[in-house]
Amino acid sequence: MKYEIKNIQLADKGNKRILWAQKEMPVLGKIMERFIKEKPLKGKKIAICLHVTTETANLVITIKAAGADVYLCASNPLSTQDDVAASLVKNYKIPVFAIRGENNKTYDKHMNIILDINPEILMDDGADLANMVLLKKKDLLKGIIGGTEETTTGVVRLRAMVKNKVLAYPVISVNDALTKHFFDNRYGTGQSTIDGIIRATNILLAGKVIVTAGYGWCGRGFAMRAKGMGARVIVTEINHLKAIEAIMDGFEVMPMKDAVKLGDIFVMLTGNLNVIDGKHFPSIKNGAIVCNAGHFNLEINLNALTKVSKSVKNVRDFVDEYTLKNNKTIYVLSQGRLVNLTAAEGNPASVMDMSFANQALSVEYLIKNYKNLKNDVYAVPEKLDNEIAQLKLNSMGIEIDTLTKEQKKYLSSWSSGTQK
Ligand code: ADE
Repeated sequence: MKYEIKNIQLADKGNKRILWAQKEMPVLGKIMERFIKEKPLKGKKIAICLHVTTETANLVITIKAAGADVYLCASNPLSTQDDVAASLVKNYKIPVFAIRGENNKTYDKHMNIILDINPEILMDDGADLANMVLLKKKDLLKGIIGGTEETTTGVVRLRAMVKNKVLAYPVISVNDALTKHFFDNRYGTGQSTIDGIIRATNILLAGKVIVTAGYGWCGRGFAMRAKGMGARVIVTEINHLKAIEAIMDGFEVMPMKDAVKLGDIFVMLTGNLNVIDGKHFPSIKNGAIVCNAGHFNLEINLNALTKVSKSVKNVRDFVDEYTLKNNKTIYVLSQGRLVNLTAAEGNPASVMDMSFANQALSVEYLIKNYKNLKNDVYAVPEKLDNEIAQLKLNSMGIEIDTLTKEQKKYLSSWSSGTQK
């Protein structure tokens, strides 16, 4: 078996951590039990490009247990947990091509390797596999029956492919499932971003001014948690509706040009590029910490920051100090890459349980239904989303009420109104 990882001797440590995460992933565990019996993915070649974490390991093990032939590479050069990669290779016989800190050339090489197996299904996080196939490996398209996409940024890219009529296979948008973005994006990224900032800097958040760029599900979750830690939170937005929501949730809203003068910590959660840009840096508060939790490392314009700086030095793991020509200092975390997956371990297993249950059921759905699907982006079927919610509640030991016959009838009728 071929693989490219940092160090196979890290396998035991990785396996202990994979098993620790497994305890928090009961929904995926239930799906795995059924997959072991039914083997719904038997013989299917699946290329998986996800952050190589303990949670992803549990997903990949589940997909393999369903009978698939799986190959894994990283969806970010800096998020790989090398011990997990080692354990997947040694303990689970899964070919992994991912090394934490790999350069862009190696990152591309690893994607190429897992595409060269001629996969039938692509599991993406950020649509890098889709992008590579459509731009450089069109010959693979004849064998691809479909794909899944994990994250908001990837779904945006895939929808642009549909608009430009270049997407050449159906994709299930796992991100759009309610059991995904309500929990993973909001509570998962909310918590793991705080975790990343603290692990990178060990600073106190209470009393700080934290600027959150973007009030999507991740931004909402992060702002809520930052407030809970005692920070004063400012939100920047480009969407009127979300801006009103942020105000009514109790946050200040203002443009970035004003926020830069007030913030101690800046967190990018927009999915866009150059959100904090060349024009902002000179007026930023001295000593500000700037980081990103969006998928790509484009949200902070580091080229522009370098241009207005006279020196850069690493002052601590994950922390680079930029000294500006006007003598202010700015601290950039994790080279502008996802702080939650680089300085911390990514979203906790309990929320990834639902996200990856969606992934597993979506792959099964694709295999059963791809002949009836067009080259489009599809939501996870509501039935599967509900099934996952129900399994999660069951795993928490929580019961809820059910509608009575009378209530069901009432909800489907129109004739009763104000009582006279
Ligand atoms: N994305 C965010 N958190 C993650 C995690 N723990 N594993 C895989 N992908 C993630």
